[in-house]
Amino acid sequence: MSIDIKNIALLPGDGIGPEIIRPAVQLLELVGKIEDIKFEFKEGLIGGAAIDATGTPFPEETEKIVTTCDAVLLGAVGGPKWESMDYSVRPERALLALRSILGAYANLRPAKIYDALVDASTLKKEIIQGIDIMVVRELTGGIYFGSPKGVEELSDGGKKGFNTLVYTTHEIERIARTSFDVARARNGKVCSVDKANVLECTELWRKIVTDVHRDYKDVELSHMYVDNAAMQLIRNPSQFDVIVTTNMFGDILSDEASMLTGSIGMLPSASIGGEIGIFEPIHGSAPDIAGQDKANPIATIMSVAMMLKYAFGMNGSYDIIDKAVIKALNEGYRTPDIYQDGGTMVGCREMGGLILDNVESSAGAL
Ligand code: IPM
Ligand code: MG
Repeated sequence: MSIDIKNIALLPGDGIGPEIIRPAVQLLELVGKIEDIKFEFKEGLIGGAAIDATGTPFPEETEKIVTTCDAVLLGAVGGPKWESMDYSVRPERALLALRSILGAYANLRPAKIYDALVDASTLKKEIIQGIDIMVVRELTGGIYFGSPKGVEELSDGGKKGFNTLVYTTHEIERIARTSFDVARARNGKVCSVDKANVLECTELWRKIVTDVHRDYKDVELSHMYVDNAAMQLIRNPSQFDVIVTTNMFGDILSDEASMLTGSIGMLPSASIGGEIGIFEPIHGSAPDIAGQDKANPIATIMSVAMMLKYAFGMNGSYDIIDKAVIKALNEGYRTPDIYQDGGTMVGCREMGGLILDNVESSAGAL
């Protein structure tokens, strides 16, 4: 019998990237053993690490690896060392290139509160208890990619900087469909966030989302201006199920939503829509704690869970990993970013090991 092989592109990147990728790889190997799948890994350079080694943040070799794999697992990119570089070669450019090349137009960013961590949020317990939001951010269009863009000299000696917000019918339709499909598998509510009172482009967004909704009458659709949405997320976050929005609004609102849950170190993401998906924690490279075994591996571990679910349809494995994380938290284990009095402080390696043990024992019980 031939064994199923999945090729995973590993892009550890910078800062804590390599540390958080390690337990994620071990987890994939364990799931492979349980499910009789062989995960094969090819590692590529991205971000600052790639700049140091090759002079560019997204080398051709890495492009080859990511376009010939079944899924991409990314750590984090960037750091102070590369911040003063020209905009066109900064580590962050690599992320945009990766998303664009793979056509990963739908970025799913869940913000779910773990009961064990309700006290870690800066908001009151009554406000955040039970929140379970999915931000669906459009990822390959909008002001991030629109042209014209640039900085030009003006005749008066000053300069003019400009970016362009662009969305086509096709781009809005497909992200709207993704959000309705996601909502159907959850609590059946989509809130589309725009600035239709000011920006023509997002007036079109609102119209097309409303048109697509005709095919999804079982899903409840509402619209909200982005300024109000930013406020409502703090005032009453549990009103939201799925939020669908543009690239830049989604960038901002997903950070806001993530902080409701207490630590940005907990939250994974999936960027899908193309043939090959990208799975990564939503936090950054945290250069201040890199190499010290202090990073929280949970966001990356849950990104692996999202890969198994969204890239390979392995919903059972997703649930096992989710439960394994919850068990480690319920037993009081905490990395420094989520530490509270009475907990047991552990490092990145140990937290990874505990979660893997839980996965192994729950698989054995099946
Ligand atoms: C994110 C990040 C990126 C973005 C940056 C690093 C390019 O903030 O993934 O949210 O703005 O998309
Ligand atoms: Mg961001």
